[in-house]
Amino acid sequence: MNGGDIPVFHPFSPETASISHLFILVLIICGVILAVVVGMIGYGLMFFRHKPGSSDPAPHFGNRKLELTWTIGPMLIIIWLFALTVHGMRQSDPAANRQPDLIVIGHQWWWEVRYPKTGVVTANEIHIPVGRQWLVRLESADVIHDFWVPALARKMQLIPGLTNHIWLEADAPGTYGGECAEFCGAEHSWMRFSVIAESPAAFDAWLSNQENPTAIPAMDSAQTGLKLFQTMSCINCHSIRGVSVAANAAPDLTHLASREILGGGVMSNTETNLFRWLKNPQAIKPGCFMPNLKLTDAQTGALVSYLETLQ
Ligand code: CUA
Repeated sequence: MNGGDIPVFHPFSPETASISHLFILVLIICGVILAVVVGMIGYGLMFFRHKPGSSDPAPHFGNRKLELTWTIGPMLIIIWLFALTVHGMRQSDPAANRQPDLIVIGHQWWWEVRYPKTGVVTANEIHIPVGRQWLVRLESADVIHDFWVPALARKMQLIPGLTNHIWLEADAPGTYGGECAEFCGAEHSWMRFSVIAESPAAFDAWLSNQENPTAIPAMDSAQTGLKLFQTMSCINCHSIRGVSVAANAAPDLTHLASREILGGGVMSNTETNLFRWLKNPQAIKPGCFMPNLKLTDAQTGALVSYLETLQ
């Protein structure tokens, strides 16, 4: 991903910039308080220590000026921090005020991504146009997940039976890493995704390609693969627009070959990796819901050559 080593210091959206500014400002305020407190303790230790032969100093009681200072001073600091926080919350998390531009549904252990205005469905990869503030509706198909793209947006949970919203926006084109930030089962760590921010023209081109249903492949091996896809258990879980759209228990594969990652980020989407994945997903992502179908090398090869046509 781009965005530096610690994304909180390298925000790429107005929302994360406001979070970052708040964080840095609070850090500075607390740093100054720490320095004052440590300084006073140090001063006391240096100059008011017990010296041999000296008696105990007389205690002071009821210094109204001092008491007012250390009550009102911290109160003002807390009010200031409160005002800064409310301002940061308003900027990073404005109220959801319209229909969502994107629906993201968390599954164990992958992300379903729906573009409600077009009917496009994809997985583990979110394309957005640069500079537009998009409203994302978050849902869960099973357990609690947490949607987090550190460089672009705050964290937000996906809770079964509830819908949450988050704003997603990028100032600059690029690929931004995202992950599930709530432990959600064995393969929680391989529940990654990418947000690909592109110029509006490139985004429109991507979206219109995604809108196309698939065509019947020309190559023999790909045709064999398509037949296998339809006759083995693949279509019980996966949809391919133009072939079968009944299932949504597993990622929609309509434009699988256009994606960069497989299996929630467990590997990059190459022909070799796809072959290994189909051959035995359990060896790569143990516990995932795609079973080992015990495909022969010939069957796997045919399926790969079909899936590679899904550009
Ligand atoms: Cu989903 Cu962790």
